[in-house]
Amino acid sequence: MQTIKNYVEENRKRFLDELFELLRFPSVSADPKYKGEVLKTADFVAEKLKEAGAENVEVCATEGYPIVYGEKIIDSSLPTVLVYGHYDVQPPDPLELWHTPPFEPTLRDGKIYARGACDDKGQFYMHVKAFELMMNTNTLPCNIKFMIEGEEEVGSDNLGKFVTANKERLKADVVLISDTSMISMENPSLETGLRGLAYMEVEVQGPNRDLHSGVYGGAVANPATILCQMIASLHDENNHITIPGFYDGVIELSAEERKALNDAPFNLDDYKKDLSVDEVWGEKGYSTIERTGIRPTLEVNGIWGGYTGPGAKTVLPAKANAKISMRLVPGQDWKAISELFKNHFESIAPKSVKVSVVAHHGGTPYVTPTDSLAFKAAYKAIEEAFGKQPVPTRGGGSIPIVALFEQELGIKTVLMGFGLDSDNLHSPNEKYDVFNYYKGIETIPLFHKYFAEMSK
Ligand code: BES
Ligand code: MN
Ligand code: MN
Repeated sequence: MQTIKNYVEENRKRFLDELFELLRFPSVSADPKYKGEVLKTADFVAEKLKEAGAENVEVCATEGYPIVYGEKIIDSSLPTVLVYGHYDVQPPDPLELWHTPPFEPTLRDGKIYARGACDDKGQFYMHVKAFELMMNTNTLPCNIKFMIEGEEEVGSDNLGKFVTANKERLKADVVLISDTSMISMENPSLETGLRGLAYMEVEVQGPNRDLHSGVYGGAVANPATILCQMIASLHDENNHITIPGFYDGVIELSAEERKALNDAPFNLDDYKKDLSVDEVWGEKGYSTIERTGIRPTLEVNGIWGGYTGPGAKTVLPAKANAKISMRLVPGQDWKAISELFKNHFESIAPKSVKVSVVAHHGGTPYVTPTDSLAFKAAYKAIEEAFGKQPVPTRGGGSIPIVALFEQELGIKTVLMGFGLDSDNLHSPNEKYDVFNYYKGIETIPLFHKYFAEMSK
């Protein structure tokens, strides 16, 4: 531990400067206007892996953005850890809500503010620096492979093909990912699950053109009104989702499992205060922790239609649209759920409108076993670095590719994230605490150490 602490101490400034350099690339995968920058980011990551001591570093082309691969094989008889992360980020808008520009990383109150600071540049870069540390202090105890992709935020479409086509190259004993959250630095935790996702887009078409709302309003269905009614009907009075068959197969947790989950440190008043809401909301019969961890949900991500410009315009819009996603839990299949949604949404449309529904990407839920060597190694590493045993939690977010790692490579994933739910992921003023960044760099070599030791 002292070797680790010394190395981090001696390289503190450079570790931060390099992360800032990485954060300056606007690697937004969703928006084609950033294409050149996304590609440059991949080259930068490859360069940094090489500098840290990785071999066979390659920027692997795909039909979309490239996947950066690198490895250090010290002994084929030792275990191998495959580190996964993503160098792409979410779009930064709404820009006017940022206190400092999203791609000009700024340090304020010990926090790094930038798009990608936590999700996932700040987190995957800890692994590059921890690897450098192990190389330069001669303490790398196992083989290591890096796979850093550029399309996580848009569904990882090409990563699946890459994994399937590179099974031999990616052969490993476990996947290690830092792209999730902890409860807090005082209450370290380890996520044991990710939810799945089904993402839909709907359009409600009314008349064949926009109409004067005085001349036609009240006599022709307004697609915006109809869309709102249809969306509102997707939850009942107990906030259960009303799509027939939606909950079929959902794996319910035992009373003990639920109790363990609810024993995690959580303060509802602080939660409400942080979000400036007077009351929480959700499915009746479940706590807030359960609502975001073990229960499926349905959210409207965006809704638009008609006039949204300045001032007032009296118009009955020809159509209205919404983007709707569902978070899924074990027992639910995203393709089947997408189909259920489509059928249901079409079936509830009144004859006065036409409805079309398309499915975007999806993802399978994932639960990691807590009795695996890798989970135990992560547990021990966190316990040593934080001086406290981590609490197992179920995360609400999704990393759709994780289920595929198990399916294609036959290995489990350990989710050793160091972010906080309050780090403003996907939101303005995304941040990452400098403390978490260095703490992560300290914890990761311990994971490798314990994983190698336990695998003997
Ligand atoms: N890192 C997040 C997922 C995450 C965040 C998991 C916090 C647990 C806690 C990841 O980059 C992400 O945002 N995933 C997307 C899914 C993707 C298909 C766009 C998500 O969860 O919305
Ligand atoms: Mn992420
Ligand atoms: Mn994300």
